[in-house]
Amino acid sequence: MKKEPLFVAFSTQKGGVGKTTFTVLAASYLYYLKGYNVAVVDCDFPQYSIQKMRKRDLELIESDETYHRLAFEQFSKIGKKAYPIICASPDGAIDVANDFLDEDRNEYDVVFFDLPGTVNSQGVLDSLARMDYIFTPIISDRLVLESGLSFAVSMNELLITNPEINLKGLYLFWNMVDGREKTDLYTVYEQTINEFGLPLLKTFIPDTKRYRKELSGEGKPVFRSTMFPVNKKMVCGSNLEELLIEITRIIKL
Ligand SMILES: Nc1ncnc2c1ncn2[C@@H]1O[C@H](COP(=O)(O)OP(=O)(O)O)[C@@H](O)[C@H]1O
Ligand SMILES: [Mg+2]
Repeated sequence: MKKEPLFVAFSTQKGGVGKTTFTVLAASYLYYLKGYNVAVVDCDFPQYSIQKMRKRDLELIESDETYHRLAFEQFSKIGKKAYPIICASPDGAIDVANDFLDEDRNEYDVVFFDLPGTVNSQGVLDSLARMDYIFTPIISDRLVLESGLSFAVSMNELLITNPEINLKGLYLFWNMVDGREKTDLYTVYEQTINEFGLPLLKTFIPDTKRYRKELSGEGKPVFRSTMFPVNKKMVCGSNLEELLIEITRIIKL
């Protein structure tokens, strides 16, 4: 019998809050740096932005000498290829993932799903219901936050009313926090989050340009990539490592 991997999604209804970014950062960190076996199912039709990022990453590694050398060193050291990125429709995501897991000879620890934000589609809801854990990025914009909370509340209700659901937990976390500390506004918002009984991660993620940094073609250090883990020097102050340690504990990886 093969080991059953955990299904994890960074998910919410709104676009532009960090779903894809954290999917890639978490996958690359756990796979390249921590030695876990990871697969990514990109179900964000029709953008397929993770699949596209992989394509860009590969082209840059081919054309840039520094990246080429770094990639060679890394893959020789870890003795495995880049993690698989599988494209699927949101409705078919679970079947596609299970077929892949059955056929692939490797065992996986975790599969990340990047699902689209349209939760009012039954297909997306069905796929979300099959996750073991959902992490929902929220930002301190009233509308985005309301939408994030309503998403979390409806997922939690689904969890209570549907005994077949796999979901073991849904956690919110602050993303794109301005400045070094959270302001009083956050305290007010957090009271509301508490009233809804929704768990919130301790770690918050600041708004910093690093989160937009990809391979650049000049051999510069890279934050977000499907081929490398986050750069060691850039990770300091990003709170990314803190977030991923907190998440790893919760999902008991
Ligand atoms: N903490 C952050 N600081 C700065 N930019 C961020 C942060 N998190 C995400 N971003 C940027 O916000 C944009 C939207 O993120 P993305 O992951 O594509 O969102 P989604 O998948 O939810 O639509 C991207 O350009 C990403 O680089
Ligand atoms: Mg996205």
